[in-house]
Amino acid sequence: MNPRERADVAHVKGQTVISQGDEFIVVGHAEVKAVAQDPDRFSSQVSAYLQIPNGLDGEEHVQARELIDGYLEPTRVLKYLPQFHAAAADCLEAAVEDGHIDDIDGLAVRYAVGAMQGWLQWPQHLTQRLVDWIDANNRARGSGDKEWHGWVAEEFDDIIRIAVEEAPEGSETHLLATQHGLEHAEIVSILRNWTAGDLGSMAKCIAVMAVAFADAPELQQRVRTILGQENQQEPVHPEFDAITNEILRLDNPFVSNRRITTCPVELGGTQIPEGARVHIHWTGANRDPKVFDQGFAPTQHAEDNLVWGTGPHFCPGKTVSLLELRAFWAEVLPRFEVVPVTADGHALQGMRSVDGGWDKAPVRLAAR
Ligand code: HEM
Repeated sequence: MNPRERADVAHVKGQTVISQGDEFIVVGHAEVKAVAQDPDRFSSQVSAYLQIPNGLDGEEHVQARELIDGYLEPTRVLKYLPQFHAAAADCLEAAVEDGHIDDIDGLAVRYAVGAMQGWLQWPQHLTQRLVDWIDANNRARGSGDKEWHGWVAEEFDDIIRIAVEEAPEGSETHLLATQHGLEHAEIVSILRNWTAGDLGSMAKCIAVMAVAFADAPELQQRVRTILGQENQQEPVHPEFDAITNEILRLDNPFVSNRRITTCPVELGGTQIPEGARVHIHWTGANRDPKVFDQGFAPTQHAEDNLVWGTGPHFCPGKTVSLLELRAFWAEVLPRFEVVPVTADGHALQGMRSVDGGWDKAPVRLAAR
């Protein structure tokens, strides 16, 4: 069962917290908010590894966020919108064959890497290594193979070391590495957070959106129209952002984050002991029928949408992510129709991922 189905089954049974051995998976909307907004009882210090800022609590976390939020401020990331457009146009040109693109998942990964390189100015010779790394990371995650996990972590550290060494003066990577008196391990940790997990998340968001557009041609046309009049001076596009958030709410590929209890807690009628691992299931919370009706309603559901989290660890990458998604679709939609069928009209078969989103999205881009 994929995480979305699993959460839906729990909702039907009326479960808000699922006990699994000595771990707890929180799928109820109210309960997820209660966990994410209470860092005193649900600590983020879940890993032995340095994770800045997501593994920090309290004042240490506040200080790390001050530094990081500065880099991710809407007006600052807006400067990279032209690079995101260029990355999308390049990827499309490279992927198109006989007027169509079959492998949307591969396209999405290449774009996620290209956009990030535009933003952080990592050298082009790292492109293939980053693409291969995303694949290895995705496969290692489900394998339970410790040696492979170790290799994946080391390979990423090596990529970051090269990116920092070769960072052009004045680039965001260079500024981060030189302006804050950070230790090498801290720089690696911050950059890993901006890139490692999020390259995969960005690619998965694109696939989920592609499926939504293929299934709803009118919605696709609406997005094509509004992005045809895109104002590139604005970091926020209220209608595009609201539609994107609603698509991702219904099929959130960024499934979960962990916490650890600092004291015994009662949550949704479940007793959780001190020191227990708690999984915030964003995908489940975003589909809680107690909060959301069945429909597709970007404006009405906006206030309760938890795609970008809530509480002190709320995603600082929201604006840059929405800008990257906007640039991608602004380049795709004038050139292509997103369709759920093969060239001879047969319905495409997709494969959902056990980690959320799609392993193979059932869509094709057909030249318009
Ligand atoms: C592409 C889709 C993305 C989604 C759906 C997403 C979602 C989230 C969510 C739900 C959290 C909260 C985690 C928690 O409470 O433990 C989070 C945290 C975070 N996100 Fe994102 N994110 C995305 C992309 C990005 C990008 C592109 C960046 C960086 C540029 C980024 C940087 C971060 C960081 C640094 C945190 C940790 C914040 C903290 O601990 O204070 N995210 N993200």
